[in-house]
Amino acid sequence: MPDACSCYTSSMKALVITALTGPDALAIQDAAEPMPKPNQTIVRVHAGGLNFADVMTTKGGYPGTPPAPLIAGREFAGVEESTGRRVMGYAQWAAFAEKTAAYTNMVWPIPEGWSDEQAAAFPVNYFTAYLGYWQAGMTGNPAQSMWGQPPSAVRRSEAPHPRVLIHAVAGGVGTAAVQIGKILEVEMYGTSSSDEKLARVKELGLQHGINYKQQDYEEAVKNLTHGEGVDAVFEMLGGEHTAKSLRCLRDFGRVIQYGTATGKAPQLDIRAMYAKSASVQGLWLTYLSQKREIMEPAWKQLSEWIAQGKLKPQVGQVFPLDRAKEAYKLLEDGKNYGKVVVKIA
Ligand SMILES: NC(=O)c1ccc[n+]([C@@H]2O[C@H](COP(=O)([O-])OP(=O)(O)OC[C@H]3O[C@@H](n4cnc5c(N)ncnc54)[C@H](OP(=O)(O)O)[C@@H]3O)[C@@H](O)[C@H]2O)c1
Repeated sequence: MPDACSCYTSSMKALVITALTGPDALAIQDAAEPMPKPNQTIVRVHAGGLNFADVMTTKGGYPGTPPAPLIAGREFAGVEESTGRRVMGYAQWAAFAEKTAAYTNMVWPIPEGWSDEQAAAFPVNYFTAYLGYWQAGMTGNPAQSMWGQPPSAVRRSEAPHPRVLIHAVAGGVGTAAVQIGKILEVEMYGTSSSDEKLARVKELGLQHGINYKQQDYEEAVKNLTHGEGVDAVFEMLGGEHTAKSLRCLRDFGRVIQYGTATGKAPQLDIRAMYAKSASVQGLWLTYLSQKREIMEPAWKQLSEWIAQGKLKPQVGQVFPLDRAKEAYKLLEDGKNYGKVVVKIA
């Protein structure tokens, strides 16, 4: 196998993407064990967190994916071989195997009392959601806020409860965003295709659930905010939803664009941006995770909240490794609640 699998010696079980043709091309195969590169550590993987990016990767739709065959998975929980420490971590691929080689700055200790499944559900969802609020100027701490400049300062002083619209609010990133939004005292509006999912997210603190199968979310936001709109939209759908989300903003609002689950390129209406001094910002954890000056303060804040018992990863479904295809399909079909986890060992 090329690249991700090139420097291995003895054998282990791994979930391999045998071709970039979708989840049906996943197979459990023997692969050589990883040899750590400089600044990497070997982790015996117990559980893997499944991300929408993993579904996209199986189809060759994720930027930077090496050619097949490659080992799947970008998020894991397990035990660091050299220290025996329980860790959770983030990688770009090769996490869904008995062992993975992870960069030391991309592993964090598993909080006390958390299961492997909960830990595997943490890194991508919570860092992404936290950085979404940070980019929206809502983390509240000027030293940590992206610009700490007038729009966010004005919003916080004039509107003590800034508003956010969270798409796919019942998903992995969505449920993390609700837990963080509750801590930040944000007024949250969230979309989902299902009343059942919305009811579960309301228990986490979502104030306004919008079932987009039953009502137009742009109209609903307009009505619920008395025509004012929201300060930020966490937008991961792409296509027409980028332009539509922009129309949900009030003055100086920000669309944080962090995905394209529809598979369509985001449509932008620049004139709508002029009209409200609004902006659309990209957020990509793959890129931001390379920056210690961003990740270290983010982890400091997240770990404080964990210690206070305020963050609890929502694990919706757990699949054994030999049923990983089903896990991928569940996410592909948007049928998941919270995080889908694959048990590795
Ligand atoms: N930029 C980054 O760094 C970054 C990091 C993490 C995730 N993301 C992106 O964030 C989004 C959420 O990721 P996630 O892993 O947390 O997934 P997820 O939200 O747990 O699952 C996707 C959810 O999106 C909703 N959905 C709406 N339209 C969909 C469609 N056409 N196909 C499938 N699902 C659809 C479904 O919920 P409802 O049925 O309730 O609408 C589904 O449950 C993805 O777009 C992902 O690529 C980006």
